[in-house]
Amino acid sequence: MNRRDFLMTGSALAVFPRTGFAAAPFLLRAEPVTAQILPLGDGATVMLGFNGSTPGPEMRARQGDTLRVTFENGIDQDSAVHWHGIRLNNAMDGVPGMTQPPVLPGTTFDYAFKVPDAGTYWYHSHNRSWEQVARGLYGPLIIEEDAPPDVDHDITVQIDDWRLSEIGEQVGGYENLHDWSHAGRMGNFARAVFDDSITLRHGDRVRLRLINVATARVFPIEVTGVAGKAVALDGMPLAAPEDIGQITLAPAQRMDIIADVTAQGGVGFVFQTRQGPYDLGIIPVDGTHPAPRQSDIAALAPNRMPPPDVENAISLDLRMEGGAMSSVATREAIWLFNGQSGMSDDPFYIFERGQTARVTVRNDTRFAHGIHLHGHHFHEVQPDGSLGHYRDTTLIGPDETRDILCVFDNPGQWLMHCHMLGHQAAGMKTWFKVL
Ligand code: C2O
Ligand code: CU
Repeated sequence: MNRRDFLMTGSALAVFPRTGFAAAPFLLRAEPVTAQILPLGDGATVMLGFNGSTPGPEMRARQGDTLRVTFENGIDQDSAVHWHGIRLNNAMDGVPGMTQPPVLPGTTFDYAFKVPDAGTYWYHSHNRSWEQVARGLYGPLIIEEDAPPDVDHDITVQIDDWRLSEIGEQVGGYENLHDWSHAGRMGNFARAVFDDSITLRHGDRVRLRLINVATARVFPIEVTGVAGKAVALDGMPLAAPEDIGQITLAPAQRMDIIADVTAQGGVGFVFQTRQGPYDLGIIPVDGTHPAPRQSDIAALAPNRMPPPDVENAISLDLRMEGGAMSSVATREAIWLFNGQSGMSDDPFYIFERGQTARVTVRNDTRFAHGIHLHGHHFHEVQPDGSLGHYRDTTLIGPDETRDILCVFDNPGQWLMHCHMLGHQAAGMKTWFKVL
């Protein structure tokens, strides 16, 4: 942590255009941008972004809508857009070489897909993602409920870190093998990015949509100045709202909170580092709500999920190996799933459509990993065997083992990979097929 770490303010990178979607096609153009990531007065950073900003515009649609996006590639590398957490039609999943051809520089690709689930999702490049996401190619994708909860403000909070020089240039070396074989590319500067035109009042009820958009860092976060509940994880509503406590978000994970503002000064996002609290940003509070809501914070309406067939679930194993301090890792095969580094011709498994599987995910490495399944959400199985929350990305610590239970009901070819994107690049990925 250096000098700048203590100079942070709550100002956001940009005010995001809030785009109403309905059925209208939307042009999303990847292009070089300049962003004020460091506090004003420090140097600006040359990044990649969408439609002039990084993060890209906040896209909003209503549950059940068909989202139509023309992606235009204005950068000098191939690219493609993945809609993280959306249980969509396989052909629209945005994985070059698997679900679509890469989108060459100067060309376009039309995405059109139905959004079945309400919640907090995001979009990001899925080509050279370890570099393109680190350089800024991501943004929020919010799917609104038919009857959204009654709040004064609905605020998306993207949490990221960047590796910057003293003058604000992004430090290169996206393929640094030391990063890849350890915890990934960590930034030296972190912040929460949100619409900095918002001022809250004491007593306001807010919905906070936290998204960890970092390529590698697991963020332990505390939200200060509010009293409320967690209501959703990875987009999916919790059966009942839960106490917030200390939040841990792996890369790509999300948490929705509904809370009342109790602070007079500001609502803060604090990253709890080993060296102490690090201020990620503050939403100012000014004034008082004349008639604060008295109602309890209720659960969000559930999304329609396929019921798991627990009795007849098949059992599968996914073993993670490799990385620094591992005897099996080599330069060419740093991370492995079940002894295989990188994509194989044969899938991890071919599922009958609708089949339920219990996958025992075992972390035989010295590092944490956030395992993401495309096109599906799954239950984290609790130590007592009960079905825990739905997630699309599960964080598994060193030497930890967790079962996940998933109904594989979305036909197509899907990736399963570590969302520490350097780990993915260095082999921690595979694919499965649903017939
Ligand atoms: Cu969020 Cu395969 O990615
Ligand atoms: Cu990993």
